[in-house]
Amino acid sequence: MPRGQLETDRFILQRFTRRDTAALDVAIRSSLADLNQWLPWARMDYTSGDTTAFIRESIQAWKEDRAWDYSIRRREEPDKHIGNISLWTTSKLGKIAEVGYWVRSDETSKGVCTEAVDRLLEEAFTALGYHKAVLRIAVGNDASDRVAEKLGFTREGVLREELLIRGNWVDHSLWSLIDREYRALRRADAPR
Ligand SMILES: CC(C)(COP(=O)(O)OP(=O)(O)OC[C@H]1O[C@@H](n2cnc3c(N)ncnc32)[C@H](O)[C@@H]1OP(=O)(O)O)[C@@H](O)C(=O)NCCC(=O)NCCS
Repeated sequence: MPRGQLETDRFILQRFTRRDTAALDVAIRSSLADLNQWLPWARMDYTSGDTTAFIRESIQAWKEDRAWDYSIRRREEPDKHIGNISLWTTSKLGKIAEVGYWVRSDETSKGVCTEAVDRLLEEAFTALGYHKAVLRIAVGNDASDRVAEKLGFTREGVLREELLIRGNWVDHSLWSLIDREYRALRRADAPR
């Protein structure tokens, strides 16, 4: 199981508690138009009850060691929910983990997602011993593709009609990063 709190230069990633409900709800509601483009759960009729149910499920998933969701918070502004990032196992045998994320609309294009995913990859490869990390990104989601590129992921191919989003079945790219590639990138980034 990953740690319940992870830190980056600018952010703290922390597992959800019931106290996060209001801040999460504000973040989702203020970003719904953007989230609705790419995430099937972000329907335009999303309610506070959905947020309560998400938090309940997230706490349960941590308890059962099934999936690990984190709230992204800025160190100096810890009450503002910036976004979500999650990790879960897609193959025990293959040691493959998937990462999912979103960032609230007034915080995008500031490197939040890239910094948070980078930290979660460190946890996945170094602390948890995964062999491979994957991202599934809707075809056309250029900002998310860019996050994958910046972190050194390779686009493996296209998964046909993977998710139903706003009534349409949408193709998704499968992006992956192998542990040795991650380590080589980290070594190249390290100060000499
Ligand atoms: C995708 C998402 C998580 C990215 O979060 P973020 O914190 O803005 O990501 P970063 O700032 O780390 O990187 C985004 C990159 O995409 C670029 N970008 C933003 N909008 C873009 C667009 N429409 N087309 C191409 N590139 C775009 C940014 O300039 C940045 O690249 P750069 O650093 O080279 O300038 C965020 O846009 C989001 O939550 N979108 C809605 C939900 C979603 O798509 N979730 C992901 C599902 S796979």
